[in-house]
Amino acid sequence: MPEIEKPTMNKPRHFLDIDHFDYALLRSLLDRGLAYKKGLANGRPLVGKTLAMIFEKPSTRTRVSFQVGMQQLGGQIVVMSEQESQIGRGETIADTARVLSRYADAIMIRTNQPEKLQELARYATIPVINGLTDQSHPCQIMADLMTFEEHRGPIAGKTVAWCGDGNNVMNSWIHAAVRFGFAMRIAAPEALRPAEKLLRWVKESGGDVVVVDTPQAAVAGADCVVTDAWVSMGQDNADVRRRLLEPYRVDEALMARAKPDALFMHCLPAHRGEEVTDGVIDGPHSVVWDEAENRLHAQKGILAWCMESRKDG
Ligand code: CP
Ligand code: NVA
Repeated sequence: MPEIEKPTMNKPRHFLDIDHFDYALLRSLLDRGLAYKKGLANGRPLVGKTLAMIFEKPSTRTRVSFQVGMQQLGGQIVVMSEQESQIGRGETIADTARVLSRYADAIMIRTNQPEKLQELARYATIPVINGLTDQSHPCQIMADLMTFEEHRGPIAGKTVAWCGDGNNVMNSWIHAAVRFGFAMRIAAPEALRPAEKLLRWVKESGGDVVVVDTPQAAVAGADCVVTDAWVSMGQDNADVRRRLLEPYRVDEALMARAKPDALFMHCLPAHRGEEVTDGVIDGPHSVVWDEAENRLHAQKGILAWCMESRKDG
């Protein structure tokens, strides 16, 4: 195999998960995204660059925000779905990584299996960006952090309540809590709580993430209340999940237990009447549309960092 194909050669700047980075780097990505949002940064650093996007699951925000973000930065995109590409007919992720590395300058993937993300990153010689796996959704939480801080200032020292399924979005919030120094109070049915391994990592890292018994305890005095779908893409047992999660709906009464100026966040798409009521998502605490917009800005910071020419290897 030619030298250039070795995964360890000249390591590309992957953006795979928030816990892979230290605070300073994450902060610089957010600052960069904000600078683009405010028109303070050079607007077109990616002229001539191409982002290949692979979707094994549906998407509205991720697809459109990455496409528009690349266009605004001067670059272009190619979109592939699993079914329309040879991945759907069994071409390996490693071979796909090798081939895309010869055409494009970065790859964004939304995949059902975290292992596929790892394999892509291992064999690609260009940066790989995680656009959601069953385990994490780091680009979303970068946008969420940007949104919180735009409305309420630094998130360090604040408390975020998570009510509902202990899913991919929650995992990335936990990574962020440790890296950005805020507390998390998590309320989830016993079967749907964060993995022990993740909670151990929090402890070893000196983080403040606690699983509590009730949604009321989680939101009490919180600066931000977050929830997400009860049934994520690709999950089965929808009826069982809905039954288990019924007490965790974020409604006006629950929201009223948070701080009076608490924010409500949801990565969207929302399932109105399930995990959140219309009164909350359309109410005065909700910043969900800013959150959706900030996917664009936060990802522009990430894209520019991933694809800029690397002097430091
Ligand atoms: N929040 C989010 O990732 O939305 P999409 O599934 O529409 O991309
Ligand atoms: N937890 C949700 C997030 C969607 C953006 C899912 O994985 O379907």
